Amino acid sequence: MRIIVSTQNIHEHNVDCIALVVQQDALNTPQIEAIARAYLPDMPALLAHRNFTGKEGSVTVLTGQRDGRLVEIVVAGLGSAPSASIPLERYRRALGRIIRSMESRTCAALLLAVPDAALFGCDAATLAEQTSVALHMASYHFDEFITDTARKVKVPELVVLMGNQELATQQSAVDKGTVIAQAVNWCRHWIDMPPSNSTPTHLADHADDVARKYDLKIKRFDEHEVINMGMGGLAGVSAGSEQDCHFVILEYRCGDDAAPTVGFVGKGITFDSGGLSIKPAASMETMKDDMSGAAAVIAAMQVIGQLKPRVNIIGFTPLSENLPSGKATKPGDILRFYNGKTAEVKNTDAEGRLVLADALSYAVKNYKLDAIIDLATLTGACAHALGPFFTGMMSQHPAFAARVQESGDRTGDRVWPLPFDNDYKAAIKSPIADICNIGSGKYRAGAITAGFFLQNFVDDVPWVHLDIAGTAFEVPDIPYYRPDGATGVGVRLLVDLAMNWQQ
Ligand code: BES
Ligand code: MN
Ligand code: ZN
Repeated sequence: MRIIVSTQNIHEHNVDCIALVVQQDALNTPQIEAIARAYLPDMPALLAHRNFTGKEGSVTVLTGQRDGRLVEIVVAGLGSAPSASIPLERYRRALGRIIRSMESRTCAALLLAVPDAALFGCDAATLAEQTSVALHMASYHFDEFITDTARKVKVPELVVLMGNQELATQQSAVDKGTVIAQAVNWCRHWIDMPPSNSTPTHLADHADDVARKYDLKIKRFDEHEVINMGMGGLAGVSAGSEQDCHFVILEYRCGDDAAPTVGFVGKGITFDSGGLSIKPAASMETMKDDMSGAAAVIAAMQVIGQLKPRVNIIGFTPLSENLPSGKATKPGDILRFYNGKTAEVKNTDAEGRLVLADALSYAVKNYKLDAIIDLATLTGACAHALGPFFTGMMSQHPAFAARVQESGDRTGDRVWPLPFDNDYKAAIKSPIADICNIGSGKYRAGAITAGFFLQNFVDDVPWVHLDIAGTAFEVPDIPYYRPDGATGVGVRLLVDLAMNWQQ
């Protein structure tokens, strides 16, 4: 999909579909007037006849014509402003609804009447960027394994954005949004691919491609090197798998030696069967999504290589499968991590923290980091606590956590803090090793006790842990996602964090 900004009149474009968003009970706008005049004089009356008032979540499709050419007119409601302005997330979702409502028709070219940025309390550049992000994200579909061509999703090839004079200069903001959303969609693609087509080696190869294309430095350690470096967690999780594990590091340097350096770490379990503590069949169905953290980090690095923020960013991804076999790590085994600490493995299904322990230790030991953030589909407990709309955030560094929360609110990758109090630490004591890989039942709070496991590996570096178990896959009701696939959660947040690091 190509998105361009135009200053021509509405009727000068040869499109088959026109779309616009409206505020509730404010349907007599100059935009509607112009569209009605050019294509469908009865448009206001028809909308009234359908009781279309612009409610949040509503969408309706009319047909207009000009010079004998038919055009679909899609109108999506934004609802009314809760305070002074309407949240941008509502606009992103309205655009998602517009793209969805066109899937059943064939629309090659869409003209979108972009509303005034003032409606959302933002500037024209932000609105142009977010328009592009939402349109591209909504257009994502995973259909390369569907052979029935009738079932292939069709999306417009061209979108023309029309708005006021201020919007007209915003093509570069649109292009920035395209760079971000294309990476989000790559992230989703890597996750949606069947797990046997998306192994640690495949993902490491994608990281290689990203490094080559966007001029990032890459270090790629194979299983042999992982074992020799003393990464007993990653090696231990990989032991049961025929696939080699990898530890991949992508480095972006901004060119300023005085600039701060931030580490991004992503859990990359390309399939999580639970290992010998095997999962029940139903819980395993979606476990190809267990590399969503790593995919988000690689995708974010792809954007960072292009948008070039004024901060150094290092991405770390431990990549492995978690499978049972005669060589697999057993409950009762004790693993030794890169930083020398040991953990008793009581449950091989708590494997994410084992691979992250090595990645975090390696990051804080070998790089001078000003902050480190990890993303992991870490616990079912987090998914249960918060559901699909908020990522769980754990941190003891309020200033860093506040930045992450702001990036989440701005981009739509929303996070919510869980209490991260030292009282929970005792849950992961072990009588025979430094710590245990599952929390004692008495403490419940599985998301938080997993967070405290990770805390052993970040030294004193300001750290935020994001548990994306609930938000990475199969999120319902958000029209710019797909309800049965990956969301690409975290990419937008990480990019925003990097771009706004130096105010
Ligand atoms: N990958 C899972 C967590 C998960 C669950 C992600 C649901 C996405 C959706 C993780 O490795 C896991 O199995 N965690 C266990 C931990 C337990 C054994 C302490 C869990 O949550 O049950
Ligand atoms: Mn697991
Ligand atoms: Zn897992």
